[in-house]
Amino acid sequence: MIRVGVIGYGTIGRIHSEAWREIPGCELAVVADVDGDRRAQAQHDLGVDTASSLHEMLQSCEVDLVDICVPTYLHEELILGAVQADKHIFCEKPLARTLVEGRRLVEISKTYSKKIGIGHVVRFTPAYKKMHQSVLAGEIGQVGVVRTFRGGAPFPAGWNDWFADYELSGGVILDLAIHDLDFLRWLFGDVKRVYAKSTRGRTSARLEHALIVLRFKNGVMAHVEGNWSNVPGEFYTKLELAGKDGLIRFDSRETDPIVAKTQNRAEIGAVAVNPYRLELEDMLEAIRQDRAPAVSATDACGSLEIALAAMESARTGQVIEL
Ligand SMILES: NC(=O)c1ccc[n+]([C@@H]2O[C@H](COP(=O)([O-])OP(=O)(O)OC[C@H]3O[C@@H](n4cnc5c(N)ncnc54)[C@H](O)[C@@H]3O)[C@@H](O)[C@H]2O)c1
Repeated sequence: MIRVGVIGYGTIGRIHSEAWREIPGCELAVVADVDGDRRAQAQHDLGVDTASSLHEMLQSCEVDLVDICVPTYLHEELILGAVQADKHIFCEKPLARTLVEGRRLVEISKTYSKKIGIGHVVRFTPAYKKMHQSVLAGEIGQVGVVRTFRGGAPFPAGWNDWFADYELSGGVILDLAIHDLDFLRWLFGDVKRVYAKSTRGRTSARLEHALIVLRFKNGVMAHVEGNWSNVPGEFYTKLELAGKDGLIRFDSRETDPIVAKTQNRAEIGAVAVNPYRLELEDMLEAIRQDRAPAVSATDACGSLEIALAAMESARTGQVIEL
């Protein structure tokens, strides 16, 4: 039985906690949060022990795996705390707030004897996984152009409004668009250059939209859109992949969200499975089988680098070469 401690009981901490409770072979032993109301909420929702910090969690409870669900600017500090305690670690994306932090974590992960997995959940989202497989199987031939969209909801309201502080959250590019940057990097490999525009600093801090253009080393061109500016609005995602022999279109708002137009088939449906549960199950399997988790710190740092380059491009107006 693997004993899990979740740290941070906000939006994603709740989702992870519920998923852990459903997964056989593990026990959600404790939830830690600095905020007393959130600890009370966790106790009420889950009936588990609570703690006010990582330190208190590790003192009061025996856990094998620490699941880090705190704001991005705290990821490095808490990963380092869990490393000192010699625990397996699962941490939400992005790996860290800065490249210096991310690279430090990569160095540590190389010699660390326990597992470190990062929550790039889109790789576990069944529709995206299916599209990934379809492209790699050559079903639409060589891909030339990609367009993605993620957003449609209002600006997020986090603990202490941390999303609104760009230095803490990195804004819509680092927090949201990174999902698609990571998915595309997983599919097409390294990025050669990045150009981005963003509304940050030009409109209200609570209306953020970013447009990112990527050229991959394999020649694919991608346009990635991240949006936190629809009030009121509903979250959705879109992906279009145009290949030499066909086209895949995905829109999460549709009943049959994936449409593939190729010579072989007209349509592929999507499967509804909780991707958060799948990524956490992968982490448990990695521990049991003594193998690497699906997304390592090194892998996640590659996606962090692209997101930070896009932020730099949006800030300076320059094209960034990677
Ligand atoms: N993979 C996804 O789909 C997804 C979705 C949402 C958020 N995230 C990521 O998860 C992280 C958290 O985001 P969120 O939306 O859940 O934030 P949130 O503001 O909703 O929750 C953060 C929680 O952390 C707690 N906290 C803050 N500092 C702490 C500390 N030192 N020790 C213990 N608890 C502390 C806060 O009290 C709060 O309950 C971010 O890095 C974000 O990018 C990922």
